[in-house]
Amino acid sequence: MSEGATHSRTADAHAVDGRRFREVLGNFPTSVVAITTTDGEARPHGMVVGTFTSVSLDPPLVSFLADRSSTTLRTIRAAGRFCANALAGNQERLSRQLATGPAGQRFDSAMWHASDLGNPVLDGIVAWVDCAVERVVEIGDHLLVVGRVRDLRVESMKTPLLFFRSGYGDYLSSTSVLMDRLVGWDEIGR
Ligand SMILES: Cc1cc2nc3c(=O)[nH]c(=O)nc-3n(C[C@H](O)[C@H](O)[C@H](O)COP(=O)(O)O)c2cc1C
Repeated sequence: MSEGATHSRTADAHAVDGRRFREVLGNFPTSVVAITTTDGEARPHGMVVGTFTSVSLDPPLVSFLADRSSTTLRTIRAAGRFCANALAGNQERLSRQLATGPAGQRFDSAMWHASDLGNPVLDGIVAWVDCAVERVVEIGDHLLVVGRVRDLRVESMKTPLLFFRSGYGDYLSSTSVLMDRLVGWDEIGR
């Protein structure tokens, strides 16, 4: 066996350790996105993902990864559509409710309206992307859900909700920090 092959086997052994995998990957910040759909009786369903990403511009495709055990994914596959809602920095409570609440109560006290495709668009979000399911691909213990974009919109200029090292946080642009400092200096100088 070559030295390279030995090295890659050792590297794999480290990589498959679940605790280490989660710990290291938790250092990669993600956006917090609510994936929503409705069932046959027009009842809203949703889950929170940190794996939403754009895939292709032509054709316009986006994707997210869902655990094989996801019950929301079953509803999405049956509906053939979903909406990706980019949650805002002040929507941590809504995110917790959508991520861990009992399936029937996740939209309790949440305001939303239906998109043209029929998917819930939540109030107070940053932006949304409404999709038809294009493809579902099995990858490891997850399913990659690829959506074809049917409509999309920026709803507000609010800052996004982020997830990093097992905790929620808000986004702070370096420009706004600089502006705050400049304003502060300006006030001190007066
Ligand atoms: C910040 C954050 C990111 C998450 N990302 C994902 C993800 O990308 N894929 C996934 O399947 N679950 C993810 N989860 C967990 C799901 O939101 C949670 O397990 C959800 O309840 C699944 O619901 P379901 O079984 O009803 O579909 C995430 C949770 C949080 C809080």
